[in-house]
Amino acid sequence: MSTNQSLKPLSVKVNEQGNLEIGGCDLVDLANNYNTPLYVLDELTIRSICKDYKDAFENYPKVNMMYASKALCCMALAKLLAGEGFGFDVVSAGEIYTVYKAGVDMSKVLFNGNNKSFEEINLAIELGVGRFSVDNFFELTILNEIAAAHHKQVDILLRITPGIECHTHEYIQTGHLDSKFGFDLTQVDEAVELIVEQYKNLKLRGLHAHIGSQIFETNIYADEIEILIKEISRLDEKYGIKLDEINVGGGLGVKYVESDLPPSTFDIAEKIINALNQSIQKYKIDPPILYIEPGRSIISTAGVTLYTLGSSKQVPRGKKYFAVDGGMADNARPSMYGAEYCAQVANKPNNDLAHTVTIAGRFCESGDILIKSINLPELEEGDILCVYNTGAYNYSMASNYNRVQKPAMVLVADSESELIIKRESLDDIVAHDLIPDRLMKNDK
Ligand code: LLP
Repeated sequence: MSTNQSLKPLSVKVNEQGNLEIGGCDLVDLANNYNTPLYVLDELTIRSICKDYKDAFENYPKVNMMYASKALCCMALAKLLAGEGFGFDVVSAGEIYTVYKAGVDMSKVLFNGNNKSFEEINLAIELGVGRFSVDNFFELTILNEIAAAHHKQVDILLRITPGIECHTHEYIQTGHLDSKFGFDLTQVDEAVELIVEQYKNLKLRGLHAHIGSQIFETNIYADEIEILIKEISRLDEKYGIKLDEINVGGGLGVKYVESDLPPSTFDIAEKIINALNQSIQKYKIDPPILYIEPGRSIISTAGVTLYTLGSSKQVPRGKKYFAVDGGMADNARPSMYGAEYCAQVANKPNNDLAHTVTIAGRFCESGDILIKSINLPELEEGDILCVYNTGAYNYSMASNYNRVQKPAMVLVADSESELIIKRESLDDIVAHDLIPDRLMKNDK
């Protein structure tokens, strides 16, 4: 089994006090000490998935693992993953600045995105970002101009749309033909001609594609690789350019609920490496450097969110609702994608799961339901609910809806917990508000 196939962080267990613990830290103590909602990250699980990826790809000599920061981006995680040998896929000035401030080697950073701004490109060049994955003609033009202004030649990949549909939520498919991302295969020649003939400040290194996210099928990676390698060989024949890098994107799924059966990192790696070796032979090209960009599978399983249970409501002849002190602003995935989660009560992990309940959020929307139906023990106000698999796309998509402060995040390992993101304060909430003088003067 690989780490992404586990429903819970690897270090979770019931301790002598009869509470759940992760990384040797009692979750009820964490809730008391740091308050709730609280994101908790298990270092052991993160290091374990990193090892899985490294072991799984060890048979391919040239692999660049780029963690997709959009899944969760903060300085402590960047530092930890850089130490594990990962580079970073970033998509904004904010993500670039975060990894830079964490002391990451910027040559191991790859800048993705379909509408990078002038300022973001400028910052990326100034800070020495190693690769740009260029998404469209507009970007080619401005990137060349900005690189020229810096008297630099920047290394680029071309992002292409391979025309592959994967069976995941429509919003997180990206490789299908009418996707907003990347060059259509019919546009690649025009882009390559522009780079070779006119855009002297761009150096084309290879091709990039990303099919989608929360992927459970392994065969589509083989289809993607065949398309990328065939294209590299065609460009060599037609233009005599040797591209020696391919980026197959991210996407490996995780297990949110028992019925989810994601493939392991080892299955994915085997499919990718076999497909690469076959295509290399078929199209007679040298083995390229392989980039992979996993996000969710690196960080999802390591993360849980702790909530305190508050009010409840029994709908006559209907559902029993229990409300927690967080919801759609700290985890947008259920309301956005209909995502499912599983949970346990941290202070009652061994009690009978006697009741089927609905876990509601505290935000002012009927759609703010975290878990539609789950069997839990008899619940009381003050119980601590631990929702599993919230490491990816929870904090990174969090908002201040209803002007609620974003939660804190702690990293746990060896019975120690450390704050890695502070809880926002009420002063943080109003920190960017301004009142025009005119309104102040009219104060009655
Ligand atoms: N590379 C590119 C170019 C991407 O667009 C993405 C994700 C990744 C890598 C990482 O994919 P992963 O390994 O995490 O599946 N907010 C959605 C997921 C959006 C994914 C967007 N792109 C969710 O919560 O499910």
